[in-house]
Formats: sequence, C-alpha cells, structure tokens
Amino acid sequence: MKTCIYPGTFDPITHGHLDVLERACRLFDKVIVAIAESQSKEPFFSNEERLQLVNENLERFPAASVMVFEGLLIDFAKEQSASAIIRGLRAVSDFEFEFQMANMNRHLGPEIETILVMTKEGYNYTSSTLVKQVAEYGADVSQFVPENVHAALKAKLS
Ligand code: COA
Repeated sequence: MKTCIYPGTFDPITHGHLDVLERACRLFDKVIVAIAESQSKEPFFSNEERLQLVNENLERFPAASVMVFEGLLIDFAKEQSASAIIRGLRAVSDFEFEFQMANMNRHLGPEIETILVMTKEGYNYTSSTLVKQVAEYGADVSQFVPENVHAALKAKLS
C-alpha cells in the first residue's frame, strides 16, 4: 500500500490542484491532501473551510482523503507512513522553491521521495491568490475553481 502526501495551503483549492491530485491517484494506492495551516500566509479561508472545500471535491477520487496539519511537512508524512510527497510545477519560476523544499525534505527524511509533476497546460498561470484577487473585483473565476469554491468565494466576498 503506497501512500503519497499532496501538501499545500489550498486557499482555496483550484482546478490546477485537482489535476495534480488526479495524477497522484493514478500513481499511488492512497493520497492524502495535506492542508498546511500556513498561518504566515494569513489564509482567507479558515482551516475548517479549506478542509470542507477540498473534501467536497473528493467524491471522484476514492483513493484520496484530506487532513489539516501543523508543523513540519516531513513529520506529517512520516506519521502517515507515506513514501512520497507530490507537488505541481506550473512554470520554471516554481522550480527553484520546489527544488529547495525537496532538498530540505530529503535531508530531514531521506526515505520519502518528492515527485514533481507538470501542471496541465491551461492551469499554469492559475494561483489561489490571483483567483481571490480577480473574484474580489467581481470577475468570473468559474473556469479556474470547482463549483463549491466558486460559491464559497461569492458568499465570503459579498
Ligand atoms: N495549479 C494551479 N495552481 C497551483 C498549482 C497547480 N498545480 N500548484 C500550486 N498552485 C498555486 C497555489 O494556488 C498557490 O498560490 P498562492 O501562492 O497564490 O496562494 C501557489 O501555487 C503555491 O501554493 P501551494 O501549492 O499551496 O503551496 P504553498 O507554497 O502554499 O505551500 C507547503 C507550501 C505548505 C507545502 C510548505 O510551506 C510546507 O511544507 N509547509 C509546512 C512547514 C514545513 O515543513 N516547512 C519546511 C518545508 S522544506
């Protein structure tokens, strides 16, 4: 039983994230979407809201579950007996940060491999911050986020 962790802030989850999740589910028996508290990012949605927004999108991924974690990602991955961490790369600019994280995580937990997958074309300019910003000014973001996130953004911004 191979377990993979898909970590992020998911504030909120986007179609780009779901694309990475879909690919992780094809590679692993079990995938845990790990929502980082990320207090330094001052998330727009609370831990509970982000958890619910992810959870409502897991129906089509029987291998996936979602949890919130605090502290080091590598400690969480070890607790869950994961063999890998998966992350999406949208552009070359993402690479440097991902490279540093992967190396630090390898230093802290050499038994856990980091896998980087290329984001599907069409999602490489999506980010949760841009989605929130654009939604705040009333533009339609339904192309970038699942239906429940679209509704939650509308409700929270109104
Ligand atoms: N498609 C579209 N957008 C994507 C994407 C994809 N496939 N993958 C990431 N993004 C976007 C996100 O929406 C997010 O946008 P934002 O910055 O505007 O909010 C951005 O890319 C990166 O966010 P995310 O993937 O959620 O990662 P993060 O940088 O917020 O989180 C953690 C990084 C949580 C994995 C990292 O900080 C962590 O591990 N924290 C725990 C503490 C720890 O262990 N630190 C040491 C790490 S070595």
